[in-house]
This record gives sequence, structure tokens and C-alpha cells, in this order.
Amino acid sequence: MIALGCDHGGYQLMQEVKMHLAKKGILFRDFGTTSEEATDYPIYAKKVAKAVLSGECEKGILICGTGIGISMTANRFKGIRCALCHDVFSAEATRQHNDANVLAMGGRVVGPGLALMIVDTFLNTAFSNAPRHIQRINQIDTED
Ligand code: RB5
Repeated sequence: MIALGCDHGGYQLMQEVKMHLAKKGILFRDFGTTSEEATDYPIYAKKVAKAVLSGECEKGILICGTGIGISMTANRFKGIRCALCHDVFSAEATRQHNDANVLAMGGRVVGPGLALMIVDTFLNTAFSNAPRHIQRINQIDTED
């Protein structure tokens, strides 16, 4: 199950993502927003972060205008590793190296063709499980 969340800036692109996932038979839960009416991206970032942390959803996808505000918000949650990706290389690398559990994109930054390739790469790439990457991920939440 994939948790989806967007604001008005990401609404159109999220409709493309939803159609794409549905065509592939990938289950998702849509946490909104439900229209292009202006709203606040933290609302949806928080819902998606909580769904991933609770285990209800294995991964999340967040879209706002730039992907920046919505990823900043998601990354305030300990255990969320939200990667803002606008290229396929980064989407692959962040799964392999960072075990990112949430993908963020900007609906005003990328078109649907590239965005859907990024989504597929993010969802289909496994974490490397390399000890050096596990060690680095574990250091993210330590103070020193
Ligand atoms: C909304 O206009 C816009 O600020 C928002 O979607 C996002 O880009 C913020 O980071």
C-alpha cells in the first residue's frame, strides 16, 4: 500500500500518478488534497508520514508545487526518509543508499513523463542493505 499526499500545486501530477499506479495494480491510499483549491502542504505530509510510520503503508509519495515544503515537513518525523527527486538517478540512488521511504516531487518542476519514471524507479528499487549505508542511516537521528 502506497500513501499519497499532495497540495494544490501537486494535484494535477498526483492524478497522473494515481492513474499510473491503478493501471499497474499497485494499491494506494489517497490522503488528499482533493482539488486545485489552495491548501497547506503540511496537512498532507503529516498524514502520509504517519501512515508510513504506523506500517499501514510501506512507502509514500508526496507532491507539492516544488516538492520542497512537503518534503521538509515529512522529514520532521523520525523514521521518515523523504527524498526530493527530479531525476531517475536520484530516485534509484536514494532507495539503494538511503532506504528512502517517501518520495517527494514538484508538480511545477517535472512533467508527467519523467515523474512516472521516477515513481517506477523509486517503487522498484531495493535498498542495498550494505553495512555502510545502514550505519549512515542510523546516524541520521543521532545528535553527535
Ligand atoms: C504552493 O503555492 C507552494 O508554495 C507549495 O506547493 C510548495 O511548492 C511549497 O514548498
